[in-house]
This record gives sequence, C-alpha cells and structure tokens, in this order.
Amino acid sequence: MKTESPNGNSLLAPIMFLPFFFIACCIVPSSADKPSYYIPPDTFAVDCSPSVAPHDAGFPYDQKYEIDFSSVSRVYAVDPSSSEKPRISACIFRKQVTWPFIVSDGPNFIRLYFKLVAYSGLNISKALFSINVGPYTLITTSESSYSKYSPNSDYAIREFCVSMDGQVLNVTFTPSSKVFGAYAFINKIEIVSMPSKLYIQEDAPFSLVGQPTHYFMGNSTALEMIYRMNIGGDVISDLEDTCMFRRWTRDDDYFMSNDGNTSIVESEVEVNSSLLVPSYAAPLQVYTSARTILQTTESKYRATWLCPVDHVAGSVRKEVNRRKNDDLSIMIDGQRCSGFDISDPTPGVEFSEIMAPTGR
Ligand SMILES: *[C@@H]1O[C@H](CO)[C@@H](O)[C@H](O)[C@H]1NC(C)=O
Ligand SMILES: *[C@@H]1O[C@H](CO)[C@@H](O)[C@H](O)[C@H]1NC(C)=O
Ligand SMILES: *[C@@H]1O[C@H](CO)[C@@H](O)[C@H](O)[C@H]1NC(C)=O
Ligand SMILES: *[C@@H]1O[C@H](CO)[C@@H](O)[C@H](O)[C@H]1NC(C)=O
Ligand SMILES: *[C@@H]1O[C@H](CO)[C@@H](O)[C@H](O)[C@H]1NC(C)=O
Repeated sequence: MKTESPNGNSLLAPIMFLPFFFIACCIVPSSADKPSYYIPPDTFAVDCSPSVAPHDAGFPYDQKYEIDFSSVSRVYAVDPSSSEKPRISACIFRKQVTWPFIVSDGPNFIRLYFKLVAYSGLNISKALFSINVGPYTLITTSESSYSKYSPNSDYAIREFCVSMDGQVLNVTFTPSSKVFGAYAFINKIEIVSMPSKLYIQEDAPFSLVGQPTHYFMGNSTALEMIYRMNIGGDVISDLEDTCMFRRWTRDDDYFMSNDGNTSIVESEVEVNSSLLVPSYAAPLQVYTSARTILQTTESKYRATWLCPVDHVAGSVRKEVNRRKNDDLSIMIDGQRCSGFDISDPTPGVEFSEIMAPTGR
C-alpha cells in the first residue's frame, strides 16, 4: 500500500477542488465480438538512472527517451528502501525544460515517479515546481507537499490520463520562480497509449458525489487516478494488466469491516465485452474476487470503504447497502451512484478505479 497509494504519497499538493466520481470497471456485458486484448501503439519510458536495461525497469517499453543532459542534471542519493540497488538517481531541472514525446492521436496514461530521498547537495524543501502536459497542469508542489516526507518510502507514483489532439506530447517542468534556488525533479516517466473509451465515454454520464446531477466528460477532460483496487483480491502488478501497465492494490486498508456482515467471494467469471466496455477494461482477476454482504434477518447491512484523498479534496467514503431482497447499490458519501449498473454474475461489489478530473 505504501508504494502506490496516494495516501502515502506526500509529494502531492492540492491541484484543484473537484468533484469525484468513480468508475466501475466491472460491467460484464454480453457479446464477445471485440478483441480481448489491447496493444498500446506507444509505450515510452524515461528513466533518470544511468543506462537502465529494459528488463531492469520492470516496464517493457518500446521506446526509450534519450535525455538531453545539457539542460538537465542528474543527482544521486542513497536509497534506504532498497539494499539491492542502494543508489538512486533523479533528473533535476533548474529552469523550465520541455520534453517532447511523439505519440499517436488519442489519450495516454502518463505516470510520474518521484522518490523522496536526500539527493546530494539538494534540500527537498526547494523542490517547488509544476509539471504541465500541453495545457494541463498535472502537479504543483508547495512546501507542504513534503510535510509527510519519509526517506524510507518507495516511489510516489502519480498517474494521469490526458488526451492530446496533436502528435506531440510536451511534458514541461517549471521550477517555481518565486523561491530562490527552486528546482524540479523526477525519477521516471512512463507514457502508455490507452484505448479512447476506457474511462471517458462522451455519451455515458457519471454520478457526482454529493450532487444530484450527472457529469458528462469530453475528450479534453484530464483525469488523475486516485485509487485502483482489486476488491477482495490480491495486488495485481503492472505486468498482469491488459497491456496498459496499471497496478491494482488490495482493498483491506480501506475497507471498514466492522460495520457490516460481509465476506469475500471468489468465483470464476467470464468477462464478455461490449461496445461500451471491452474485455480489456481490466484483467480477469479484478472480476473474480468480490466482497459480498451476507443476507441476514436484519433488514439492512452495509459495507464501507473509506478512501482518503487528501491531495485532492476530503475523502471518498464508499458504501454499499443491502436491504433484504434488494439489489446491491453503491453509494458514495451517502449518495447513490448509478452511473453504471453492476451486472456481474458474482453477487458482490467490485468497484475498481476512482478517478478525479484534474489539470485546468
Ligand atoms: C458471455 O458470452 C458467452 C458466449 O458468448 C455466453 O454463453 C455467456 O452467457 C455470456 N455471459 C454473460 C454474463 O453475458
Ligand atoms: C532545508 O531547508 C529548510 C527550509 O529552508 C531548512 O529549515 C533546513 O535546515 C534545510 N536543510 C538542510 C539539510 O539544509
Ligand atoms: C511543444 O513544445 C515545443 C517547444 O517547446 C513547441 O514549439 C511546440 O509548439 C509544442 N507543441 C505542443 C503540441 O504543445
Ligand atoms: C472524442 O474522441 C472520440 C474517439 O476518438 C471521437 O469519436 C469523438 O468524435 C471525439 N469527440 C470530440 C468532441 O472531439
Ligand atoms: C453475520 O451474520 C451471521 C448470520 O446471520 C450472524 O450469525 C453473525 O452474528 C453476523 N455477524 C455480524 C458481525 O453481524
């Protein structure tokens, strides 16, 4: 949980106060005429470590971006969290630098990796910067971003989905001009193409937490991944994903088990694709485990997940209610979420990804 949850992710400065919605990757529609896999046309990786072999990075990227070290410097630190690779390196930007990536049309995952350790000659409190992709401001740090600085933590990973019209995806690092000696830094970047309708479907509305209205997203909405959980199941690594290198965490840390009567079910499921949700939306493991609320003589039980989202806004509390002879309904902060139906043959709850609009 420490590694990829935004929870342990102290680099995170508030970006914007924005409504939350959640995306259930768990619709199991019929008709299997769509391909069951997705091959991203572009997979880039930039690693600030010197000469990392592809298998080292764990990410089987096609294209390695060569860093121009005339405008970027590399710094080193001792990595207290890894005895295997005790030395860690980062790219440091002391003025505005843009890295252009040539990508295909359509949306991309952009994953930014930050390792908060004491780099030699640098004070982390001066790591004050923003990162933009085209017109979107993905990250803006401030001194409070480092208040929970822990030198033993693993990479803080921030993941975004951004759609570009053109074929150049410019990633721009801008150190703060207000603080003398401010710098920007990054350890790794991954850019992976994603299917155009994975999250944003222009004709499908999302429910907003705490508001009766629905929310329609256009192609120009940038998203940030807040949580990606395999409910009731195990960690799913990037290499087990359907070729988009996403990672799922367990839900144990967020599940409030004491106020419900729930259990985990494992089942064999057949994930059928549809026009709206292709079967590569998530790997099969996401569907096979679920939590159920047991049928009891009591009229009502509920299951609750509490997902802090400190760097965006407040928290998301997801509740699932089961009344006797009633369907499961998903609620966030007491509001029923009905953006998508869950028609999984498993009688349980399988929300998967919580995303927030971001960036402007
Ligand atoms: C999935 O497709 C198979 C074969 O097309 C079908 O037998 C099965 O009932 C479908 N399952 C669901 C949940 O629609
Ligand atoms: C880093 O900067 C902060 C604030 O400017 C200062 O309090 C601290 O002593 C500095 N640390 C080092 C190691 O220089
Ligand atoms: C990318 O950046 C370059 C130079 O910094 C600029 O000339 C170009 O217009 C930018 N392209 C896009 C699509 O933002
Ligand atoms: C959004 O993207 C989809 C898929 O690329 C495209 O069919 C649709 O026309 C786009 N909509 C707008 C408003 O650009
Ligand atoms: C869960 O339900 C079972 C069966 O109705 C009951 O025996 C048990 O006490 C319940 N547990 C809790 C924590 O409510």
